[in-house]
Amino acid sequence: MTVCYLNDDFVELSKASISPLDRGFLFGDSVYEVFAAYNKNLFRLDDHINRLNKNLEFLGIKINISDSQIKSILKEVCLKNFEENQIIYLQISRGAEEIRNHIPKKDTKPTLFICSFEMKSVPNKNNDTIKAILSSDIRWKKSSIKSTSLLANVLYKIKAEEEGVDELLMSDAGYITEGAVSNVFCVKENKVYTPPLDANILPGITRKVILEIFEELKLNFEEKKIDEEFLFESDELWITNTTKGILPIVELNEKIIGDGTPGELYQYVKQAFLKKIEDCKVL
Ligand code: PDD
Repeated sequence: MTVCYLNDDFVELSKASISPLDRGFLFGDSVYEVFAAYNKNLFRLDDHINRLNKNLEFLGIKINISDSQIKSILKEVCLKNFEENQIIYLQISRGAEEIRNHIPKKDTKPTLFICSFEMKSVPNKNNDTIKAILSSDIRWKKSSIKSTSLLANVLYKIKAEEEGVDELLMSDAGYITEGAVSNVFCVKENKVYTPPLDANILPGITRKVILEIFEELKLNFEEKKIDEEFLFESDELWITNTTKGILPIVELNEKIIGDGTPGELYQYVKQAFLKKIEDCKVL
């Protein structure tokens, strides 16, 4: 049995239902967060809540619930589900209305939904590698917003699967933005590069953690625009996100990156990332 939270109640996921007139369903008028919980401890909870609040503010969605209430509901969902390591999904839509109208009513009550999935692969010491393809970025210009309007991302993931790769990286006017579900890093001559936040990318929480690790380890890095040529010529290529942590891309458009194995810097940074997860487990 999976327990979720919908509006004001904890319910069995299979019994949870919302109106088909919910604006999240009709218009994608909603934002979401994906949290990792290790040993039932939510990783970087405050960072996720801060990003959620910024997104709600951008959309002008006002939900009558405090940060501490949301945090305790998230923790409760974690505790009510039995898996030690979970992926917690949270979505807030502008709510359900009586008729379909692009212009929302001022007093519509937002819909809050939180559910848990088993974390299938917990970041570990294995030398897992992935392959990716590059495609042009067809998304809107506000990809910094974690909106549930993910049609382009869905099509990208379908394309990646059809082509037998794990992720699809995007480029806009020749410059790399991010992956369909991840942020991108590359290494050239022992320096790490990642596109800046104003490159129409999601401000990933894992990206933020990795940047903190660079500071802590005093690594040479820069947030700068990365062109396609630079990307293909990089010594190492990594992606980061909440569900997978950090993973090395060893093949891009069938071109081998570096020597086709997880690079030295990747392994160094990943150790530090795994340590952060370990610290979270004993909170
Ligand atoms: N997505 N960029 C995009 C487009 C993403 O969808 C994601 C994560 C990221 C990484 O963000 P974070 O480190 O905060 O997870 C970057 C989640 C996992 C998803 O949609 O399921």
